[in-house]
Amino acid sequence: MSDARIFEDLKHDHDRHRALLAQLGETSGASEERSTLFESLRQELQAHAAAEEESLYATMLGNPDLREEARHSVSEHKEIDDYLGELVETDMSSSAWLIKFKQMRHRYLHHIDEEEEDMFPEAADTLSSADEKRMAAVFESRKPKELERAANELPGDERE
Ligand SMILES: [Fe+2]
Ligand SMILES: [Fe+2]
Repeated sequence: MSDARIFEDLKHDHDRHRALLAQLGETSGASEERSTLFESLRQELQAHAAAEEESLYATMLGNPDLREEARHSVSEHKEIDDYLGELVETDMSSSAWLIKFKQMRHRYLHHIDEEEEDMFPEAADTLSSADEKRMAAVFESRKPKELERAANELPGDERE
């Protein structure tokens, strides 16, 4: 059942990410709007990926039938984190920033579509409802903590 709370939580975040990514694509130059929206997106994507790894992907990695899928997603998180780091380093008023942003957006939209279409249904078919409950509890308690942490932690910073 991929309508379990954990998957609803994750999809709810994804929808916010889609909206933020669309809004950011409409901004221009080194505007206040672009820098505010980008900072929200950066913190949100870092915190979401971290809390998702601590809940869903930690559980999937522990299951031999789901391990490869989990590794694939975690490696995409790393790729997105690298993009975010490059965006932080790039002058927002340059055309290079928007080009890089659009590459990152394309990759991230692919990532969350794949999670929703492949990873979540497969995890839902394989894991127990006790696992699903526990993952929701972990995600919901970790996400606000990861948001606080992301506020002070740039992409690529060493964790733990
Ligand atoms: Fe993810
Ligand atoms: Fe996700």
